[in-house]
Amino acid sequence: MFCLVGATDPAWAKEAVKDLDAVLVDHAHCEMKAATNALSLVVRHPQDLTLVRALTELAREELEHFQRVVDFLERRGLALGAPPVDTYAAELRKATHASDVSPIVDRLLVGALIEARSCERFKLLLGEDVPADLRPFYEELFACEARHYRTYVDLAIAAAGGDEASVQRRLHVLAEREGAIVRALAAKDERASVHG
Ligand SMILES: [Fe+2]
Ligand SMILES: [Fe+2]
Repeated sequence: MFCLVGATDPAWAKEAVKDLDAVLVDHAHCEMKAATNALSLVVRHPQDLTLVRALTELAREELEHFQRVVDFLERRGLALGAPPVDTYAAELRKATHASDVSPIVDRLLVGALIEARSCERFKLLLGEDVPADLRPFYEELFACEARHYRTYVDLAIAAAGGDEASVQRRLHVLAEREGAIVRALAAKDERASVHG
């Protein structure tokens, strides 16, 4: 899907729906991290008003998603708890270290990859027997995170001075790394999570 190199094993969704409570808790934290990551990019690049506007809007939507997932948690009597260790995002960020690509381009492309993987996972969940109240929410998120993917790629192209070809090449390199991270995490026997 989109730029992704490695598809998620369909077994992920079968396991995820068996432990949807854990997925929902993890999902809430993912939405909060998506918002804070977008805002941290805004704080670092205040001179770029196109980026500032696009990412504050994106962060606003992620915060709204967070609030809605919290509502689902509350209705199910689940606690939000402390954020879990996010190996996926940490490994993905490591992939951008020691590169000669501009840090802002890499950070925007990491954002794009996380959005793309989220979309893929929502689509897989929608192929399973998810509760009726969650289905329309996941459908809406699929469309919204797809839009966020595009926002990040467009901002990366702008940050690279319009050099779309170089951005697509770099995106492919990072996507290969992301696919390897996803495969390594899938091999671990951990609780269900959005990106694990
Ligand atoms: Fe979101
Ligand atoms: Fe998003």
